[in-house]
Amino acid sequence: MTEGRAAQPPRVLVVLGMGGTIAGRAANAQDVVGYQAGVVPVADLLAGLVPPDGMRLEAEQVANVDSKDMTPALWQALLAAAWRHLQRPEVAALVITHGTDTLEETAWLLHAVLQPRRPVVLVGAMRPASAAAPDGPQNLADALTLAGDAVAQTAGGVWVTLAGRVFDARAVRKVHPARADAFGAGDGGPAAWVEAGRVRWLAQPAAVSPHPDQAARVQAVLTAQRWPRVEWISSHGGADGALVRALLRQRHAAVAGEDADAPLAGLVVAGTGNGSLHTELVAALADAEDQGVTVWVTTRCPEGEVIPGDGGRARRPFAVTDLPPAKARLALSLHLLWQQAALS
Ligand code: SIN
Repeated sequence: MTEGRAAQPPRVLVVLGMGGTIAGRAANAQDVVGYQAGVVPVADLLAGLVPPDGMRLEAEQVANVDSKDMTPALWQALLAAAWRHLQRPEVAALVITHGTDTLEETAWLLHAVLQPRRPVVLVGAMRPASAAAPDGPQNLADALTLAGDAVAQTAGGVWVTLAGRVFDARAVRKVHPARADAFGAGDGGPAAWVEAGRVRWLAQPAAVSPHPDQAARVQAVLTAQRWPRVEWISSHGGADGALVRALLRQRHAAVAGEDADAPLAGLVVAGTGNGSLHTELVAALADAEDQGVTVWVTTRCPEGEVIPGDGGRARRPFAVTDLPPAKARLALSLHLLWQQAALS
């Protein structure tokens, strides 16, 4: 210890467990498909892993689920835990172990709601913890490295790492059902690589600058009894609008108190190509909009974004989002929630 200076206590790296394949177990080590996700406690996943220099690990099990079963209540629990830890001055970063199937939705939600100035790193695995060669331990080791990385510490933000690649929360998408490197970034690439315990950034990430209403926005999301109901549909051959009309009937019944589910409040439509929509679907969507449902159009293409200005083909200039459908659905729900709470 340097004379006259007290040793700094280690900063805390909090690891939150949500479940997923990374915490999955199968009956035998060969089975990498017929396993149960969300079984192994997060504290066990950390066994043998070392924290970044000057940090100590703390683990909290928020949930242990297969991420296909995520719900607004589970997201609220995760957002609340993450927000609570981010208020602690000694916490340097968060790592979240999570199933890969809806990881991109959770990542985007954390990014949109928390806008953390300290890094929040999501990590999953494609083979269960019981596999002969599980990928989870290396991915989790990479997540700890990324959480402690100086560039990530300066920039903050929400990041995802899998198979040595790092993606930002906005870009990341699951692009393969089985490969160990199951994530991509649409028509972009990774933001960084984690290689042998160091992070190689391909570009300097911009530092997070939270929204002026951030704290109120977080509280609105955490305390909402129900998030506005937004459904995601597609345009395709034969898209005649029947689904939209059924959803409008649900909306009327729910508003009249005859249906206990939340009334339809928004629709995200994954259009063909540049967000183009079947003519019959446009008619139904126009009715929906006239009845107070907010409609956002995106593309069902796995790469690229809708270039606005194609209203002529859609016959009605619906609002366009540059987010892919899964994230657009959450974005519209948050937009409506914050609008209801008179927040920008
Ligand atoms: C899940 O998403 O929980 C199961 C699949 C996975 O983690 O890869």
